[in-house]
Amino acid sequence: MAVSKTASTTPTSEPPVSLAANQSVRGLAAYAQGKSVAEGFAEPIKLSSNESPLGPSPAAIAAYHDAAKRLFRYPDGGQTALRKAIAACHGLDASAIVCGNGSEELQLMLVRAFVSPGDEAICSEHSFIMGRIHAEAQGATIVTAPEPQFRASADSILSRLTKKTRMIMLASPNNPVGDYMRRADLSRLVAGTPRGVIIIYDGAYADYVDAADYDDGLSLHRNSPNVVVTRTFSKLYGLAGLRIGWMCADRQIVDAVERIRTPFNTNIAALAAAEAAVRDVDHASLVRAHNTKWLAKITDALRGFGYDVLPSVANFYLIRFDATGSFTAERAGEFLMRRGIIPRPAHAGGPSGCLRITVGLDHENEAVIAALGDFRRECSTSRAG
Ligand SMILES: Cc1ncc(COP(=O)(O)O)c(C=O)c1O
Repeated sequence: MAVSKTASTTPTSEPPVSLAANQSVRGLAAYAQGKSVAEGFAEPIKLSSNESPLGPSPAAIAAYHDAAKRLFRYPDGGQTALRKAIAACHGLDASAIVCGNGSEELQLMLVRAFVSPGDEAICSEHSFIMGRIHAEAQGATIVTAPEPQFRASADSILSRLTKKTRMIMLASPNNPVGDYMRRADLSRLVAGTPRGVIIIYDGAYADYVDAADYDDGLSLHRNSPNVVVTRTFSKLYGLAGLRIGWMCADRQIVDAVERIRTPFNTNIAALAAAEAAVRDVDHASLVRAHNTKWLAKITDALRGFGYDVLPSVANFYLIRFDATGSFTAERAGEFLMRRGIIPRPAHAGGPSGCLRITVGLDHENEAVIAALGDFRRECSTSRAG
């Protein structure tokens, strides 16, 4: 039968289909990823996303290749082997662990399971932006708790609790600063938070920290069932591209997340590689030692040039610049890009702009030090002139 040309057009009597997103989604700004291209450089030094410069453990790469043989199979929806390996590594009960397609997905599931429109979510100033975006999309009101000394503060968060608060989100170490909440402060936060308010304690950079007064929070759920810790394989374990993270929580929270988790959210290659990675404690130690050594070296060198480098215990450092004039974050960023080095612009509060730079390989860190030394000299000359 011949089809008339007009038959497929929408009859004018039908109302137009609205493609407007939900009210809570319309105002959101999309997540901006760190840059990965520097014009004129085939292989730039990419220090914009806090990835591990040393890559994953060789055992993880071997497990990834081996997983190729099983790609026609669905992954283990119960995530059994990986949960057991994580539990053994951290002295936890495997039933307290759920794995996600990155820790970011776990934060999404926690928000979906517990936050309703009209609830308040207190986000510490430098908590992970995606947690905030998910809570806002869910219709929650976001209450930002400032970080007075560039680190999450129990007082700042507790003073913002109301009857509507349903969730608290903080990252320790935080991002883009890299400082951490001290154990005593964390204890005060947990003690002062009502049990019906869920605390998401984001430990994406916890694997790098060896400070004696740092608490990774992993045992807190035993006495405080409202505390959930999220962790990732994207940073120290070098598996950002596979998207795999995990959370540790009380049975009730695990149960809620399990109800909305899609059965195969973690893929077969990610599960295999992460299991091998967590078992390879030697590689983890090597990466940690590399980071600790370079973080100190870079901080010393840059402070020696007169840079304001904020204290960090993570795998990146934040440098503050003047708000105006020649010594600005924007100009420093452009200077680095002209040398093929990609930093990440960031605002750590206050009027001056900042650059966040990931700790890289030896030669990459040396290139950053040399470039920032030159930039500093160039600014001093232009000031003197
Ligand atoms: C503080 C913080 N939390 C979470 C994440 C996301 O981690 P994942 O790759 O596991 O989703 C990041 C990534 O940069 C981060 O900086």
